[in-house]
Amino acid sequence: MSTPRTSASLPPTGRPADDLFREMSDRQSGDINWRAARTFSLVYPTGRDDIDDVLARANHDVVFGNALNPLRFPSIGSMERDVVEMTGSLLSAPSTGGGVFTSGGTESIVMSVLSAREKFRARGGVGGRVVTPISAHPAFAKAAHLLGLEHVTTPLDDDFRANVDAWQQALRDDTVLTMGSAYSYPHGVVDPIANMAAIAREREIPFHTDACIGGFVLPFLEELGVEIPGWDFRVPGVTQISADLHKYGYSTKGASVVTYRDRSDLRAQIFSYHDWPGGMYRTPGVAGARAASPIAAAWAVMNYLGRAGYVALVDDLRATTQRFAAGIAAIEGLRILGAPIGPLLAFTANDVDINAVGDVLDDRGWGLGRIHAPEGLQMMIAPHHRSVVDDFLTDLSEAVENPAPTSRTSRGYNT
Ligand SMILES: Cc1ncc(COP(=O)(O)O)c(C=O)c1O
Repeated sequence: MSTPRTSASLPPTGRPADDLFREMSDRQSGDINWRAARTFSLVYPTGRDDIDDVLARANHDVVFGNALNPLRFPSIGSMERDVVEMTGSLLSAPSTGGGVFTSGGTESIVMSVLSAREKFRARGGVGGRVVTPISAHPAFAKAAHLLGLEHVTTPLDDDFRANVDAWQQALRDDTVLTMGSAYSYPHGVVDPIANMAAIAREREIPFHTDACIGGFVLPFLEELGVEIPGWDFRVPGVTQISADLHKYGYSTKGASVVTYRDRSDLRAQIFSYHDWPGGMYRTPGVAGARAASPIAAAWAVMNYLGRAGYVALVDDLRATTQRFAAGIAAIEGLRILGAPIGPLLAFTANDVDINAVGDVLDDRGWGLGRIHAPEGLQMMIAPHHRSVVDDFLTDLSEAVENPAPTSRTSRGYNT
């Protein structure tokens, strides 16, 4: 049972640790039960105890470390470098490139937009806009907001990928940065990145591939022989890529990497300050002091799994996704949106209110995302969902036959 929230004040005297952990556990009983594999975003568990143990140990071993100063914590600095370089090699980054570890996809994107804005300003640019397909993650809108830029969105095609003609029309000389998703969060599709990046390159506009979801899926799908449209640094116009370790890299939260084709673009996001009596201050991202745990966890899980471990997990994930997709497509009245090639499915209904279907699923303890235009349900599938496919499809089928009388939910709080 969760404890009602009251205005908290520091207890006059300390409380026993057992008491605290009991209360923490009590409070957690009100959280989503992600361990039961009924939640389809926010956490991406493999369902493997050996991996969870490695993550817990890595977090624990450096719990008091501070990644702010790699001269004082060279162990953290070296693990951070390893993670950035291992990620760069998965993205086919050239030797002229470089990257930075960040706290998550949003920070990777904000730093990428900052780098592009600095470049734009160095050329004498004033104002500036960030142009994205409407399916781009809100982190681009947030980056534009934080950095004093205009955010312009462009429509999608019928297959939910960027409409290249409309997108191209929005590019102007004051475009600071543009992008494509691999995969897009709402529909799980990959934008026509090769085409878009070629156009951006001709216009000398930085092009960001948002591979926060796909960065640790697409390279391994390709290794399994799946045909993948161009998305990484092998596409000439792609200048920067975000890839999240705390999603399909299977690390614990607080782990992403932003990588640049050209190291000078990386330098543009680094902040240095020399006038402080406290000494020289230099940070590559938004934070000052930084937890060491996400770096150690990412380093540990990447090395524990290795390439073969990720390929096996992605193979398993692909099989699970295909079972979900086939089951959803077989339910009369449901339609999968676009042609997803990864672990993300979005679907809608022809004749019933899909949000009313979602409400029944909510009542049965499932947690799916809600999407719009068209209204639909969205699932980010993780390896541990392998054990719930049949239960989910039974509940979904019953929910379509007997949806809630009126839908009470439409705008879900998505990631
Ligand atoms: C495609 C995409 N980009 C960026 C982000 C932002 O990542 P984070 O929530 O780690 O900041 C997400 C989050 O789901 C995403 O799906």
